[in-house]
Amino acid sequence: MQPQDQGPTSTFTLEEMEALLLLALSILTGAGCQDWGVTLPVDPLAGWSSSCVTIPCSYTYPEGQLVRAVTWSRNKERIVRLTAAAGQGYGKAERAQFLGDLQHNCTLRLNPLALGDGGAYSFEFQTQSQSWRSPRALCLTVSEHPCRVNYGMARTGGALSGSLFCSISERCSSSGLHWYDGAGARILTETAAGQRESWLSMRIVWQHRGAALECRVRGYQNRCLPKGSQPPATGWTPHLKVLVDTDGPGPIREGDSFTLRCVEDSRSLDEFYFWIHNYEDLPGGPSVQIKGATLSHGGNYTCMKWVSGTGRGYLAISPTTYVAILAPPVVHVVATPGPHRSTGEPLSLMCRLDTSAYGGVGFSWYKDGERLGWAQPELAFLGVQVADGGEYQCEVYNTLGKSTSLPLTITVVYGSDWYQLSPGPMAGFGAGVLLLFLLSNLGVYCLARRTRQRKEPGGSLQEGSREDPSKPQRDSLYEEIPCAGEIPCPSDDNGDYYNSTKDYCN
Ligand SMILES: *[C@@H]1O[C@H](CO)[C@@H](O)[C@H](O)[C@H]1NC(C)=O
Ligand SMILES: *[C@@H]1O[C@H](CO)[C@@H](O)[C@H](O)[C@H]1NC(C)=O
Repeated sequence: MQPQDQGPTSTFTLEEMEALLLLALSILTGAGCQDWGVTLPVDPLAGWSSSCVTIPCSYTYPEGQLVRAVTWSRNKERIVRLTAAAGQGYGKAERAQFLGDLQHNCTLRLNPLALGDGGAYSFEFQTQSQSWRSPRALCLTVSEHPCRVNYGMARTGGALSGSLFCSISERCSSSGLHWYDGAGARILTETAAGQRESWLSMRIVWQHRGAALECRVRGYQNRCLPKGSQPPATGWTPHLKVLVDTDGPGPIREGDSFTLRCVEDSRSLDEFYFWIHNYEDLPGGPSVQIKGATLSHGGNYTCMKWVSGTGRGYLAISPTTYVAILAPPVVHVVATPGPHRSTGEPLSLMCRLDTSAYGGVGFSWYKDGERLGWAQPELAFLGVQVADGGEYQCEVYNTLGKSTSLPLTITVVYGSDWYQLSPGPMAGFGAGVLLLFLLSNLGVYCLARRTRQRKEPGGSLQEGSREDPSKPQRDSLYEEIPCAGEIPCPSDDNGDYYNSTKDYCN
């Protein structure tokens, strides 16, 4: 029966009154009670992180009481509890271990200590009739271990230049720090070791992708751990990797969002992350979120994780993961041998993509905006005609979407050797020359016909031309001009039209 349960109107027996008085006295005078008591060491107690601390403790209670449960709390939060019925139960800190018993020993051990373990520790026990809390709490401070291995970086340019270094405080008694690779072998190249720090070039770090590098304090031994449970010196490799989470299935396309995660089999309290994207530093923690991806977000990602520890620290380096961002391909039409042709010449139009990332694409062709019934990447003409001239576009498509090229203008003119010699930028000049040429030939033709008609009335044109030795060139030219009969020649002339610089035929 607990005294607190008594109502104010109850009558007490003498024994109950005694218990009540004793309780009141113990509350007023703290640990002044002889029978109910907890003995704690003088505080404050101090410890280093990663070390271990044992808090000696004993408790007393009046004879005849039976202890049912004991509890240790830090800052009023229960961290460990032992009951007669259920044994030891761990609460918040699994590193807290109750070494005492349900009689008089309430020794507590904390192993290893973490920085967050500092605080006010109090002990409380319950008997069949009463609950007792130590009136005084024990203060524990935890400070960083002088042999904690921290990291630093010295960069001169990109992510892979410069060095990484590990360091310890001056209060750590050590003969130096050394770097070891994933197989436990000491790294001797591109490293500079001092008493308090040890440097390693980023080039060496990069060579160890997929493995881990360890920095160890020489001569450091963790005395907290029971014998035989020192971490193995060799053959231990944390496997770090980059995982890519996407919103949906399939490839990442431009504008999508994705998340990169740096994951390892085990987690540590004290870890720092670095990311390298295409040889550049990328800020981020255990994960990096990319929203609205562009092509520049594609490429190689590597993550690194530094874990500080006491006496040792390590850097785990992931293998490189390639992230492809799909963008609609850039498509264009390529004309071979060129876009400006003469009638009868062959012409090939090819639909080209700037990437090979798109598999299984289909092709469509458009001329002057109208779709052609052709689905091959090449559109070929054995001999182009004037009517084949126009604006050509090609389109590629697959399940991801489609891309259409800009129009390519194909011009086809009537055949001429002149013209073929001057494609491209010379086209305008060539066309002018051609027009002049045609017109002058027409003039020659008209003159020739007129002359022939005068000289050989009734005679055949061809015979006449061959028989005339003075004009072989003009006759051969006129035979090639296809405009004969279409353009009327001057019906009346006195021979002076040939000298006119303005009009030849009109
Ligand atoms: C309490 O238990 C611990 C651990 O078993 C032991 O080291 C310590 O001596 C005990 N304390 C007392 C007062 O018996
Ligand atoms: C990514 O890595 C591969 C293989 O190491 C390399 O061939 C490629 O050029 C890299 N890409 C970029 C953008 O750095």
